[in-house]
Amino acid sequence: MSDHNQVKITSMNYSEDRPSAKDPVKIEDLTFRDGHQSIFATRGRTEDMIPVAERMDEVGFWAMEIWGGATFDTMHRFLNEDPWERIRTLKRYIKKTPFSMLLRAQNLVGYRNYADDVATAFVERSVANGIDIFRTFDALNDYRNFETVVPVIKKSGKHFQGCICYSLTEPRMGGEVYDLDYYIRKAKDLEAMNADSICIKDMAGLIAPYDVYAVVKALKGAVKPPIHLHSHFTSGMSSMSILKAIEAGVDIVDTCMTPYAFRTSHAAIEPLVMALLGTNRDTGFDIKHLGGINEILERDILPKYKHLLDDTKISIIDINVLLHQTPGGMLSNLVNQLREMDALDKIDAVYEELPKVRKDLGQIPLVTPTSQIVGIQTVNNVLFDDENERYKMITDQVKDLCYGLYGTTAIPINPQVQKKALSGYHRGEEPINCRPAEVLEPELEKAKEDVSGLAADFDDTLIYALYPVTGKRFLKWKYGKDEVPDEVKPKTLEAVKVEQKLIQKAKAGQLVEKNEKDAPPKSENLRTFNVFVEDEHFEIGVDEVGGLSRVYDIRPMPAQEQVVSPITAPAPAPPVVQAPPQAVPPKPAAPKPAPAPAAAESGDETSMIAPMPGMIVRYEKQVEDTVTEGEIVVILEAMKMENALPAPANGTIKEINFGVGDSVAKNDVLCIIA
Ligand code: CO
Repeated sequence: MSDHNQVKITSMNYSEDRPSAKDPVKIEDLTFRDGHQSIFATRGRTEDMIPVAERMDEVGFWAMEIWGGATFDTMHRFLNEDPWERIRTLKRYIKKTPFSMLLRAQNLVGYRNYADDVATAFVERSVANGIDIFRTFDALNDYRNFETVVPVIKKSGKHFQGCICYSLTEPRMGGEVYDLDYYIRKAKDLEAMNADSICIKDMAGLIAPYDVYAVVKALKGAVKPPIHLHSHFTSGMSSMSILKAIEAGVDIVDTCMTPYAFRTSHAAIEPLVMALLGTNRDTGFDIKHLGGINEILERDILPKYKHLLDDTKISIIDINVLLHQTPGGMLSNLVNQLREMDALDKIDAVYEELPKVRKDLGQIPLVTPTSQIVGIQTVNNVLFDDENERYKMITDQVKDLCYGLYGTTAIPINPQVQKKALSGYHRGEEPINCRPAEVLEPELEKAKEDVSGLAADFDDTLIYALYPVTGKRFLKWKYGKDEVPDEVKPKTLEAVKVEQKLIQKAKAGQLVEKNEKDAPPKSENLRTFNVFVEDEHFEIGVDEVGGLSRVYDIRPMPAQEQVVSPITAPAPAPPVVQAPPQAVPPKPAAPKPAPAPAAAESGDETSMIAPMPGMIVRYEKQVEDTVTEGEIVVILEAMKMENALPAPANGTIKEINFGVGDSVAKNDVLCIIA
């Protein structure tokens, strides 16, 4: 046993030039990746990392995580930044500290398994652009999904860090799946794959101090590679868990700079430096130097991101994580999704349904993308199932999971759910047992063709190969083929300050913007509504800008039998057929009559309504195409899941209201069928 199994005070010299500890705890800083991913929705811009980059390089971190996870997606989608460029830019400022990235194994930095040719090329290009450590995980802990990327990492002479996703089915470690033996077995698997280090990846902040003590002790005794702890703060346990892990002999732990720490992020580095000062595991870091970095972040950087902080809660920890053993991010996604669908009152039903769905789907760990897969299926079940039928609307990703496309689940999938999911599934009705990517056709050549003339180099092609819709849109911005929309442009600190002042004024009731415009004349289409707010009564005139409102035929919802398309497997979302919101019944005694419903003029039209907010992936049908009820018309991406929406009626597509990549709100009219 090495003596780092015991933490003891070895020196009373606490000065900056104190002697270095015999066995310092190594620290990986996550500020530039998981830090802003966790608390600012991954919106951190490269320009906001540069002001502290050189100082961060001086701290003495074992590594800095600067890339991977959601950064690739968010950067090209929301920030108009080339993800590859970030690595190269930061490398110019951070010359000593190795760069780490979070690699979702065969999912790379996306939400599905990519073909082997894409996976190989992606890792090669990540190495070439400057990544040194590949923290690799698979959402199912199925290490066959490592088999393509790991040899590329090793061949490049880079560090392969294998992760064990930490999961629970009960309040503490144990139970039918995730017990101590499970974690030892997984660590041995990783050692057999020549892992350079092994990371316990506690993405939900579930690991309790005395459980992590047991796990780290057991792993230190069972395998040789250094043990690394990644534990989110979400539940409030991680500072305690880190300390217990250090007592158990952990080699490396993850932290963030204070302004990027806590909440759903990670424990802060500064208190840990102080806690270990003068011990045999002293980090050796200079607390004053860290303080200087914090000052810059607080003063010059964080004000730009403050609006992204979740200020709906006062508590910085999420007690729900302790109650439900699920990641905080997943819970907030569920809440947002329900809110957008006006179904927030169903949250308790969702909490109740969640463990059932997870068990049906093989008791898989909950981490990207499985947390989304389980989460959205749970919401679908709560919203669309009835007493006669379960799993009415199965997402494509659940079908893929049931087919075996993500790998082997911790326990077998519920055979009934699996059978239903795979009925009519386009890859086949029999699930596979092989390494999932073996059934995937190569994707690179087609990607190259698709963006030839647009992609200037191979890195561009990979952006497209990983994210066809948003990737292509980004490349058009990058090369000036499309105008860059304002919402993806950076904000200056000055603009933020002006905004903050206005908000403060508004909150103090000092902001009364006078409407300079004269009211337009009332038209003959003016309709009046009675509005009651508790006992108060208002009469409100509504006069639609641009003349007559369109009134559509309102048809009843198709009966609940599902029309199964031959290609896409069963039970897609029944699109809600309804009139657009302006078709509110007028007040009977209104002074001016409401316009006559335009039903006669617009004929027998059905509008296809978005059942949930999302992004248009593509229209399967064009204007003038005839459709039969149940045929797939639109693919809508919602919460990173693709949903195939069928036609609610027979007819001809008369009007298509959105384009590829457009965002739609719930109830937006996607197209008109007549
Ligand atoms: Co994390």
